[in-house]
Amino acid sequence: MTYAAGRHFLQIPGPTNVPDSVLRAMSAATMDHRGPEFGELGAELLRDIKPVFGTTNPVVMYPATGTGAWEAALVNTLNPGDTVLAFETGHFATLWQELARSFGLEVDFVPGDWRHGASPEAVAEKLAADTGHTIKAVCVVHNETSTGVTSRIPEIRAAIDAADHPALLLVDTISSLGSIDYRHDEWGVDVTVAGSQKGLMLPPGMSFNAISDKAIEASKSAKLPKTFWDWAPMLAANERGFFPYTPNTNLMYGLKEALRLLDDEGLENVFARHARHAAATRAAVRGWGLEVLALDEREYSGALTAVLVPADADADKVRALILDRFDMSLGAGLGKLAGRIFRIGHLGAFNDLTLAGTLAGVQMGLKLSGLPADPRGLQAALDVLGEA
Ligand SMILES: Cc1ncc(COP(=O)(O)O)c(C=O)c1O
Repeated sequence: MTYAAGRHFLQIPGPTNVPDSVLRAMSAATMDHRGPEFGELGAELLRDIKPVFGTTNPVVMYPATGTGAWEAALVNTLNPGDTVLAFETGHFATLWQELARSFGLEVDFVPGDWRHGASPEAVAEKLAADTGHTIKAVCVVHNETSTGVTSRIPEIRAAIDAADHPALLLVDTISSLGSIDYRHDEWGVDVTVAGSQKGLMLPPGMSFNAISDKAIEASKSAKLPKTFWDWAPMLAANERGFFPYTPNTNLMYGLKEALRLLDDEGLENVFARHARHAAATRAAVRGWGLEVLALDEREYSGALTAVLVPADADADKVRALILDRFDMSLGAGLGKLAGRIFRIGHLGAFNDLTLAGTLAGVQMGLKLSGLPADPRGLQAALDVLGEA
């Protein structure tokens, strides 16, 4: 590796750039995780994380990545042989249902084109047909990080209610929490799954379950095997700000600072900032003469934009060139979108000029690759950013 002057642009849709003040907070000396000082920190974080989820209910924190919190949501609420309803919105929805299957759960996996979110109409149809209430949970990825498409959670909740169906609603917000409007309580979600490394602006390694009363009730009779993920000892220890095993202490210092940053900006402003950057990015993509993968404007992601390249082009070559020439990492196409798209992450610690620099790098990279790169793309984004 030769020295590259200036900062690397980390514009993958997570892990995201960690603010300097968060990095500094994490560099404090590790403390005794069973001592009195830690109990105060734990209690403070367990309280202050709740508004980010839009909940007054408990939020469990794991020293694990998002995949662990996916597993926790399932094993704490379901029983062997239960059926779950899930939607093929992209790569991550596919991985979550594979995880469910590995526990012996039956998954009704509704096929999708990776360009739309979970269909509220399909939820209504499936649940209305399930008169015996075989389906125990509906699993939805709020923001499909592999496609830049969101699912309309309030409409999905309304569909469950309209069918008068008792299934739990489990939602993955790993790439939406702290970036895109989300309300665990108001939207009637039973388990919200989240991770540290995206909108929360932390390194990877911490993940969360926000839990409704109904989910806690379900957990009392849930029989899938679990030890590490078990909510019961967590909730008991959390009452005094402690954990049943060693928590990731230094990430918690970082979380305290990240929560302060989010609170200081105000969540509404955080969501508006992300939506504005996403709109500017879409304007750039269309201006260049390329296509945004998301097809329904109600489902555009505020956190990332997936860009389709022409059928005879290789998106991975464009990414490699941009990394080599401009020291910027963009997200790869995952699963069946490998080589067909690249993903621009515009979430977390991110501002207008970071976006302008990101889009300038993409435009130059497209041009060098011989792909559509009309300079009106960057100009269109700057026009959006220049609006009041
Ligand atoms: C939507 C979504 N769900 C789940 C995961 C898996 O999380 P992790 O890689 O932190 O285990 C990711 C990771 O990017 C994701 O974006």
